[in-house]
Amino acid sequence: MRELSLNILDIAQNSISAGATLIEITVDENTQADRLTVCIADNGRGMTPEQVRTVTDPFYTTRTTRRVGMGIPLLCMAAEQSGGSLDIKSRFGQGTTVTATFVHSHIDRPPLGDIKATVTALIRMNPQLDFCFIHTFDGRSFTFDTRQLRVILGDLPPDTPEVAEWIGGYLDEQEKILSGVLIPDEND
Ligand SMILES: Nc1ncnc2c1ncn2[C@@H]1O[C@H](COP(=O)(O)OP(=O)(O)OP(=O)(O)O)[C@@H](O)[C@H]1O
Ligand SMILES: [Mg+2]
Repeated sequence: MRELSLNILDIAQNSISAGATLIEITVDENTQADRLTVCIADNGRGMTPEQVRTVTDPFYTTRTTRRVGMGIPLLCMAAEQSGGSLDIKSRFGQGTTVTATFVHSHIDRPPLGDIKATVTALIRMNPQLDFCFIHTFDGRSFTFDTRQLRVILGDLPPDTPEVAEWIGGYLDEQEKILSGVLIPDEND
C-alpha cells in the first residue's frame, strides 16, 4: 500500500465492521519531533486482550470468507519500516484505538496521500455513522466533525450529493491551508 490514507480507510473499515457509531481519525504531523502519528479510535465492540495480542499476526482474522486479515499487519509493517511502531488499545465491549507512529522524514515513510478522499468516502458510504477528523501540522490544526455538520444540516443526510461535494471542497481547502499552499481568507 503506497499511501497512508488507504491504510486509514482499511483500519476505519475494521471499526465499521465492529459496529462503531463514532470513528475518530487523527493525523498529527510534527516536523520538529520528526514524527507522524495516525490514530483511529472507535466505540465498536472492541477486542479481548488475547485478540489484541494476535491481531498483528497476518494469520489471525475472524473473517470467514478469507483466512488472512491484512489491514492491521500492513499498517504495522509500514510503521516499522519507517522507524515507527503500531499500538492497539482495545477494551472488549467499549472500543478500539489503533495508533501508528512514523519517523516523518524517513525515506520509507509512505506519503499521507489523498486523506480528503478517504474521509469523504467514509462519510458518503456510512451516512448513519459519525466521523471526526483532526489533522494537525506543526501545531496548526483543523477539525471536521459530522456531529457538528448534522446540527447545520438538520434532516439532510451527509451523503446527499451536494453535501458530499461541499465536504470534499471544504476538506480540500483546509488541507491546502494546513500545508501552506493556500492563505486563509480573512473574511471567512
Ligand atoms: N476496530 C476493531 N474493533 C474490533 N475488532 C477489530 C478491530 N480492528 C480489527 N479487529 C479484529 O482484528 C482482526 C484483524 O483485522 P485486519 O484488518 O488485520 O484483518 P481483517 O479485517 O480480518 O481482514 P482485511 O482487513 O484483510 O479485510 C479482524 O478480523 C477483527 O476481528
Ligand atoms: Mg481489516
